[in-house]
Amino acid sequence: MSAEEPLPDGFVLRALDRVDSTNDEARRMAEAGAQPGLVVLAGQQTSGRGRHGRAWASPLGNLYASVLLGIEGPIAASAQLSFVAGLALADALARHAPAGVELRLKWPNDVLIGRAKVAGILLESAGFASVVVGTGVNIVSSPRETPYPATSLAEQGFAAITPRALLGAYLRALDGWLRQWREAGFAEVRAAWCARGFGLGERIRLRLDREELLGRFVDVTPGGALLLDLDSGGRREIAAGDVFYPDP
Ligand code: BTN
Repeated sequence: MSAEEPLPDGFVLRALDRVDSTNDEARRMAEAGAQPGLVVLAGQQTSGRGRHGRAWASPLGNLYASVLLGIEGPIAASAQLSFVAGLALADALARHAPAGVELRLKWPNDVLIGRAKVAGILLESAGFASVVVGTGVNIVSSPRETPYPATSLAEQGFAAITPRALLGAYLRALDGWLRQWREAGFAEVRAAWCARGFGLGERIRLRLDREELLGRFVDVTPGGALLLDLDSGGRREIAAGDVFYPDP
C-alpha cells in the first residue's frame, strides 16, 4: 500500500506531526464528539504511554497510532478486543516479514520476533461504550532499557516501510478480525491467537501488580484470561499481568 492509498471504509484519519499521546488525542476527540473509526496517527509522541503506567519511547520513524472503537455488549468484550488488535497487528506485520521471520504473540497482545518485542498495544476506555486502541510498532528503532528485550523491523531485516503504509496494512487486518469477532464471537479469535501465541505449555514468570508467579502457561480461557498451573501448586486464572519467559 502506498502512503496515499486510502484507509479501509469506516476509518477517518487525523495525522499529526507530534502529539503528547495519540491515545490522549483520540480520547479528547471522542469527548468532543468524534465517532468510532477515528484514527490518530502521529510522527512523534512527547508523552507516549505503555501498559502498567510505563513510558513508551516515541522517536521519529516508528508507528504511533490510536483507533477509536465502539464497544457493544459487556465490558468484558474490551478485553477480547485486545486479542483482536494483537492478532491483526501480527497478521499485518507477517505479510511484510522477510522469509524465515516469524511473528508471535505474547499474552495478551505484545508482538514478538524471536523473543524480542517489536510492537505493543494499549487499550484505554474513552467514555461510555468507546475504547481507544493505541498501537506502537518499532519500525526503525527500539528502546534499550526495557523490562523486556526489544527489537525493530529494521533490525530484523524487514524492507523499509513508512508508518502510514504500515497503518494501512494494520487497519485492513483489524477490519477483518473485527468483523470476524462481531459476527462469530471470540472463539475463532482465541484459536487464531493461540496458534500464534508464544510460551503456551511452557514455564513462565508472570509479574502482577503486587506479586510474581511462576508456573506453566496452560491455556487461554474462553474469556481471554491466562491459565497458570502454579509451581507452588494449584491453578490461577489471570486477567492482567506481564509475561516473562525463562532464558532458552
Ligand atoms: C505496551 O506497553 O506494550 C503498549 C504500548 C502502546 C504504545 C502506543 S503508541 C500509540 C499509543 N499512544 C500511546 O501513548 N501509547 C500507545
